[in-house]
Amino acid sequence: MTVLENENHERSTVSVIGLGQLGTRLAQAFLGAGHTTTVWNRTEAKADALVEQGAVRADSVAAALAASELVVVCLPDYATVQDLLGPVVHGLRDRVLVNLTSGTPEDATRTADWAAAHGAGYLDGAAMSGTRLVGRPEALFVFSGSQEAFATQRQVLASLGNAVYLGSNPTLAPVYDTALFGLVWGALAGFYHSVALVGAADVDPTAFAAVAKGHMPFVTSLMVDHARQIEDGGFPDDDGTVEVHRAAMEHLLHTSRAQGIGTDVPELFQTLLNRAAAGGHGQSGIASVVATIATGERNV
Ligand SMILES: NC(=O)c1ccc[n+]([C@@H]2O[C@H](COP(=O)([O-])OP(=O)(O)OC[C@H]3O[C@@H](n4cnc5c(N)ncnc54)[C@H](OP(=O)(O)O)[C@@H]3O)[C@@H](O)[C@H]2O)c1
Repeated sequence: MTVLENENHERSTVSVIGLGQLGTRLAQAFLGAGHTTTVWNRTEAKADALVEQGAVRADSVAAALAASELVVVCLPDYATVQDLLGPVVHGLRDRVLVNLTSGTPEDATRTADWAAAHGAGYLDGAAMSGTRLVGRPEALFVFSGSQEAFATQRQVLASLGNAVYLGSNPTLAPVYDTALFGLVWGALAGFYHSVALVGAADVDPTAFAAVAKGHMPFVTSLMVDHARQIEDGGFPDDDGTVEVHRAAMEHLLHTSRAQGIGTDVPELFQTLLNRAAAGGHGQSGIASVVATIATGERNV
């Protein structure tokens, strides 16, 4: 069914351009929330299942732009976004363009300027929770760019999950995207090391994960407390000094070596603590580690 064949139906709420792994899940989430959803994909067959689920197939990119005030693009990179929308850019006028393609802050600025020059409200975005959770409240989506665009489309975007608006600077979404990616990897690297360590003592990963999960609220409470300390510029030793943690890190390294497992992960932690100590923070709280990272200091 094309958009023209759908003339008698109500106007689409949202058009999704790019039906890869993520784009397909986005379209399904919009449909699941009851929104009339138009879809377009270069390889047409990838839209078939969505059309069966109630989506409207657009027969061209221009038709997808014409169908809805909200246009969500999800393509491999920003060059592809430009290649695809460039020839039909007049269709962007009075649209809200939400770009969930991964890219750099420079990409976001360029695309926001380009969209604004063609009369579109622009939101850069990032899907932070993979594809499986899309459509559920715990799936985090971050957006930055036009405040008006977000206010207008907030409810529809909330169909995707936890839609968080970061501010009017369009670069914030890709900056958060990479920052949160690093956070997840930091946590997972610690987890993988822990699993290897307890595994050497014949503990099953699932048994360890159950205990570790219960410990996570403590970790998130530290994040909140330490964020406040970093803003205040003071590092109380309530959660132990850098020196105390350096000593504890020695135990982790010793135990890891004794169990015959790799030590790359705790060595990184040790490097950070050593730098903080060398920077004069030995008796400060551990949040002082951020000072050496933020200044790019490599004094140890
Ligand atoms: N998958 C994830 O878990 C995930 C999570 C967060 C962010 N992202 C980001 O989301 C974006 C899309 O990822 P994805 O996993 O959905 O990718 P994907 O499964 O590889 O799909 C890519 C999509 O882009 C289309 N495409 C590629 N080149 C094109 C071109 N020249 N012209 C028109 N369409 C073109 C493909 O169309 P065809 O079907 O015709 O090939 C397909 O619809 C990426 O920037 C990715 O980093 C993905």
